[in-house]
Amino acid sequence: MEPSEIRWLFTPEQIAARVRELGASISADYAGKELVIVCVLKGSFVFAADLIRAIELPLGIDFLGLQSYGDGVESSGVVRITLDLARPIADCDVLIVEDIVDTGLTLSYLIEQLKARGPRSLKVCSLLHKPARLIRAVPIDYLGFTIEDVFVVGYGLDHAQQHRNLSGIAVIDDGTRG
Ligand code: IMP
Ligand code: MG
Repeated sequence: MEPSEIRWLFTPEQIAARVRELGASISADYAGKELVIVCVLKGSFVFAADLIRAIELPLGIDFLGLQSYGDGVESSGVVRITLDLARPIADCDVLIVEDIVDTGLTLSYLIEQLKARGPRSLKVCSLLHKPARLIRAVPIDYLGFTIEDVFVVGYGLDHAQQHRNLSGIAVIDDGTRG
């Protein structure tokens, strides 16, 4: 991406401040419980890494790989588990950590899958939410920021596997989206 194409949406400082707030809410809500964080790969690994350090509770973390996109910017609507959790979550207080809820198809599929495994509780923390494109409504218990209908990259989020390493969140427009 050329510098001229970058439009910054959130600076690293803005993200860090919001992550601290989310961590404080989660710490208060889960006090005395055994929290298991489910980090949805790949997009949320950067967010999850910062979020867990903002949570002042003993917690476990596990990873789940989901793929809902090809290399374009439109959801295929087809979700596939590419890596499953290493441990059962039965009777655990599970918090799914997602990068972004767009159509909601990925998260609703994931919630359905994980509910079937019998967790004690199941909640969702998403860094971003794009309500304009919602197809299937999903409950987001902890939300970082609501954004317009734009395609964003950085802080773990990619476009065709690129730009995950940007420290802030930027808008990308490759002209493929109407
Ligand atoms: P959904 O199933 O449409 O809600 O899509 C969710 C997944 O699509 C997210 O977890 C992201 O991996 C990806 N995604 C959706 N919107 C964006 C975006 O603006 N930038 C990067 N990835 C996105
Ligand atoms: Mg994702």
